[in-house]
Amino acid sequence: EGDVYKYYSEGEWKVSSSGKTVSIVNPTTRKTQFKVQACNQEEVNKIVESAKAAQKSWAKTPLWKRAELLHKAAAVLKEHKKPIAECLVKEIAKPAKDAVTEAVRSGDLVSYCAEEGVRILGEGKFLVSDSFPGNERTKYCLTSKIPLGVVLAIPPFNYPVNLAVSKIAPALIAGNSLCSSPHPGKDMTLENASLGLPIQGAVAALHMVHCFHLAGFPKGLISCVTGKGSEIGDFLTMHPGVNCISFTGGDTGVAISKKAGMIPLQMELGGKDACIILEDADLDLAASNIVKGGFSYSGQRCTAVKVVLVMESVADELVKKVNETLAKLTVGPPEDDCDITPVVTESSANFIEGLVMDAKQKGATFCQEYKRQGNLIWPLLLDNVRPDMRIAWEEPFGPVLPVIRINSVEEGIRHCNASNFGLQGCVFTRDINKAILISDAMETGTVQINSAPARGPDHFPFQGLKDSGIGSQGVTNSINMMTKIKTTVINLP
Ligand code: G3H
Repeated sequence: EGDVYKYYSEGEWKVSSSGKTVSIVNPTTRKTQFKVQACNQEEVNKIVESAKAAQKSWAKTPLWKRAELLHKAAAVLKEHKKPIAECLVKEIAKPAKDAVTEAVRSGDLVSYCAEEGVRILGEGKFLVSDSFPGNERTKYCLTSKIPLGVVLAIPPFNYPVNLAVSKIAPALIAGNSLCSSPHPGKDMTLENASLGLPIQGAVAALHMVHCFHLAGFPKGLISCVTGKGSEIGDFLTMHPGVNCISFTGGDTGVAISKKAGMIPLQMELGGKDACIILEDADLDLAASNIVKGGFSYSGQRCTAVKVVLVMESVADELVKKVNETLAKLTVGPPEDDCDITPVVTESSANFIEGLVMDAKQKGATFCQEYKRQGNLIWPLLLDNVRPDMRIAWEEPFGPVLPVIRINSVEEGIRHCNASNFGLQGCVFTRDINKAILISDAMETGTVQINSAPARGPDHFPFQGLKDSGIGSQGVTNSINMMTKIKTTVINLP
């Protein structure tokens, strides 16, 4: 049961010498859908060695040629949107249309990266020494951006293709080589923060890597390794041959950042994005954004609205409007393009249920009846949530959204800033001055005014404060992050 997939190393598809595979369970059927190779440490070593060798000549390949290949990969990716989307449906229960969107968005991201890379890597700086006190004009300094070497890219289960290419494309255009490895869902963090590799999304990622293979990138430049976290998780992230880690996921990222060597890290981790609703807000707009922001892909987005902080005076009306919109959502299998689909694993569903039961015990108001079938959880709005409930602080990563009623804007900002996360937040008001002041006061990487949190468009800077991340993403920032400044100083006689 379940088609078996090979891993990609040195430009070839290979079967692991371990003779073992890891099963990928379909969240909807809860049966094994695919199997991938359980690679061993020797195979990881081989991949890193070949990535190192391939990177040397890739860095010398003209920038325009690197861009040309990336444009080709983008086109192939878009041509292959159907098989990629089919994997996303089977592996991570992404609604059919959203799955196609992920593949297309990924192609666009790769193309944009190629264009942006040509622009920003095609220019350097020229400095003269006599602008600094005590210096004559005897030194000319030339700066350029050089690659870091081997980049380890670890995408999450919820965007195994898009959040893989958002790492792969900037790395490649900047002259780096790539080792990519799908990683576990937030609930699958293993002891010692080993990566529970692989999980759902791995086969979609392998398809995506195949598109780069078809585009004709040099052997060894890109690889995709799959395996068990206990065997290759820490081994990969602590590998001395890795020069940069770009990771998206949950708590595992915090552990990786503590264990990694002295290398640049790009981490996009959890979030508890707050949505603050003021008394003068357009409540229809707020309600539709709360439903879109809180329930798209069943709430399994780091940027999902994860707590609504609404002024008491408009709370009843807002909750009514949100409930009306929620009632229109379809619930069922991803193949039927339902809005709400099964969450990624049974343990994820159990975790969500734990938060719901805790809120029930502590007296939250259930706007809908709690309903679950297997991994499928019906959308649920919890009103009158109080700070002593776990759901006020923890991210369910599921279709369950808490509403906290507030009596002042300051109370809302206090709740938002008391979180250990700081990814995004949003505020709904017709008063732009108030919105700006609230944005300044919210300790998050981004604040959206009158819209739900979101990462895209993919060239916008994307970053989290506190436990939500390290560094900033978005096409331009990722390219810059995957380079180092090199200077050459001409000393005049
Ligand atoms: O899950 C984390 C993603 O970066 C969120 O991306 O806002 O496009 O859904 P998104």
